Amino acid sequence: MSKKIVIAIDGYSACGKSSTAKAVAAQLGYGYIDTGAMYRSVTLYFKEHNVSLTDPKGIKEALKVIDIRFKYNKQEGVNETFLNGTNVEKEIRKMYISDAVSDVAAIGLVREAMVEQQRKMGKKKGVVMDGRDIGSVVFPDAELKIFMTADVRIRAERRQKELFEQKQIVNLEEIIENLRKRDRIDTTRAESPLVQPEDAKVVDTSFLTFEEQVGEIVKAAEKTVAAQ
Ligand code: DC
Repeated sequence: MSKKIVIAIDGYSACGKSSTAKAVAAQLGYGYIDTGAMYRSVTLYFKEHNVSLTDPKGIKEALKVIDIRFKYNKQEGVNETFLNGTNVEKEIRKMYISDAVSDVAAIGLVREAMVEQQRKMGKKKGVVMDGRDIGSVVFPDAELKIFMTADVRIRAERRQKELFEQKQIVNLEEIIENLRKRDRIDTTRAESPLVQPEDAKVVDTSFLTFEEQVGEIVKAAEKTVAAQ
């Protein structure tokens, strides 16, 4: 493909957004930007430097010195997140960060700073960016917008299987409850809530295999590029 586009992938938690976005980027030879990792990195910085979420001055000062970059690890074949030069990929996936990140991601000052960086990262196009507000706020003019969704019970079953593979046994109803709660927070928060952009292609992964969902988005990208 010669012309490069921006592919925005938004959707509910545990729909397989990140793994799908990564695979789509690899097939197209595009860069992949995990915007959730950026909010997670800010959360880690705030924790390490005792930045209070109710102190706008402290938040502003912190945001001035936070530098987030992604680097491709050829050996592992994965993108890794660096916060001020340190590889934080593993740390930001830990539970104490997952538990705190929603509150940090709801702060307007944080979102403004992240959106500015995300726009810079996607300026040259040829990127797949996944998150909650990519097609609605970060790149409202993205050439291709995907909105991923799936039945909550199916998402929960997939998450339960993932957890089981990590030797964690969690009750299905508990996972359903947690996903419903996260969906509610994501869709009702005041700052950039998760919305389905009108011009987005909806990909319901409830009954699709991983290969099918990746294939569907790659096909849509090729069609979009051909029409440019
Ligand atoms: O996709 P994730 O679970 O890594 O996202 C972490 C948190 O950041 C989650 O609370 C949703 C939020 N987020 C957001 O508000 N906007 C984005 N563009 C990406 C993530």
